[in-house]
Amino acid sequence: MNYHDTLSYLMDAFGGADSLQKLLGVGPSALSNYRRREHLPLNQARKLSNIAPKFGFNLDPYTLKISVIDDDRKPEILLIITGGIAAYKALELIRRLRDFEFSVTAVMTASAQQFITPLSVSALTGNKVYSELFDLTDEQEMGHIQLARKADLVLIAPATANFIGKMAHGLADDLASTLCLVTEAPIFVAPSMNPHMWTNTATQDNCAKLKRRNISFIGPDNGDTACGETGSGRFAETGFIISQIQQKLLQKHSSADIFPSEKQTKPLDGIKILITAGPTLEPIDPVRFIGNRSSGKQGYAIAYACAEQGADVCLISGPVSLEAPLNVRLIKVETAQQMKQACADELDVECVICAAAVADWQVKQTANAKLKKSNNKPPEIVLTETPDILSWIGHHPSRPKLVIGFAAETDSLKKNADDKRARKNADWILANSVLQSGESVFNSDINEVLFLSKTGAEYWDTDSKQAIARKLVHRISDYFSDVHVSGVQKKENI
Ligand SMILES: Cc1cc2nc3c(=O)[nH]c(=O)nc-3n(C[C@H](O)[C@H](O)[C@H](O)COP(=O)(O)O)c2cc1C
Repeated sequence: MNYHDTLSYLMDAFGGADSLQKLLGVGPSALSNYRRREHLPLNQARKLSNIAPKFGFNLDPYTLKISVIDDDRKPEILLIITGGIAAYKALELIRRLRDFEFSVTAVMTASAQQFITPLSVSALTGNKVYSELFDLTDEQEMGHIQLARKADLVLIAPATANFIGKMAHGLADDLASTLCLVTEAPIFVAPSMNPHMWTNTATQDNCAKLKRRNISFIGPDNGDTACGETGSGRFAETGFIISQIQQKLLQKHSSADIFPSEKQTKPLDGIKILITAGPTLEPIDPVRFIGNRSSGKQGYAIAYACAEQGADVCLISGPVSLEAPLNVRLIKVETAQQMKQACADELDVECVICAAAVADWQVKQTANAKLKKSNNKPPEIVLTETPDILSWIGHHPSRPKLVIGFAAETDSLKKNADDKRARKNADWILANSVLQSGESVFNSDINEVLFLSKTGAEYWDTDSKQAIARKLVHRISDYFSDVHVSGVQKKENI
């Protein structure tokens, strides 16, 4: 087939001349020029190659040859593991990626091999692990260019400060860094390092450079790091990393990418929501704590439902045995103080939902060593109040537009919850009786809610925590669509 024929063929394959012009972002004259010159510029060929799978075939941008899609082909992740303390978490990440039907090929830096062995990585990926740039056998079997080309996405996890620096400066002194320059696939970086290393201007400048080059970052999270310091630098949660990758790969093949004007929107697109969930545990001594029976199920269900509707969700959770929902950034805390600090760090949002069962009291003086049983009498424990997070957010100078709290009461449900809403300056309160139908709401999968706002109250029938979450998210979507339409904060909608 000559070039003229190829372009005619492409026109048919991509749905006709109009469609092809739209996909390439050109007018009819450019298309006839391509035909006349018998040349399609490489950048245009790449655009078509990216979109081709949506039309049911693959297109090689260099030869313009079309091939049939292998439906069974799993998306190919090139995972670059660098030498940080979180390298061991790459093993769990590989396991979860494979659960999600990704094919994973790993490349390890020399430093990464000081932390975990290529043998463990290879056992989990089911593929050979690559690390040497100058390995002749590899070049025959799978050259570094092919390794980069076959990837649908490159994920660097964990990414050290050193590796981020090398990428920012375009260095290519080992296989991993060379691949980052060769690949045309999207690159995701999941950093993990000591908080001082992360906030260092050098690291931040390097990250800013990479972001300008369209390299995406996943995390890092706030919290305790392996080096014993607290702050930003924690490796992001595995579930969150996978959700970001899934989103990117789905986007690549979705119709939204074909014609940007047809992009599908969700009700909470672009809305940032902060959610607290689970209990807080207040230490008495190194082995004992004051806690409560919160399972976190309601807060996690709300986080899931908000993310499903397009919100950018940060979930701050006390200790629970639940998996982080996909698409949600999780920050784990233990005490009320830590939860408040995490909320302070993440308060730049439009909506806050305080669903955590924060302890009311903490021990005034936590013992440094385990309290011993003595023959005399039990130890006296002096309690003091924990920070009131909902009230602190409700009265904060940078108060988010919509503040929602939960109230668990044992008696006078409406009156107590109403008082709580006013006292804490919350917009809405979801109140539930702790002793509903004689059984505790805490570990249950169902909930019964009294929804209270400044102007009214509404009973929501007993339903699953997921259904209650969807109902709340519906309300939140209505609220923000009204705010959006009127340009001012909506008064009330019940
Ligand atoms: C015990 C230990 C733990 C380390 N943890 C980290 C870390 O978590 N993050 C980081 O950026 N560097 C960390 N480093 C430093 C890196 O290993 C070092 O910068 C190395 O050159 C990284 O090489 P790579 O980027 O080629 O993998 C650690 C070093 C040691 C000795």
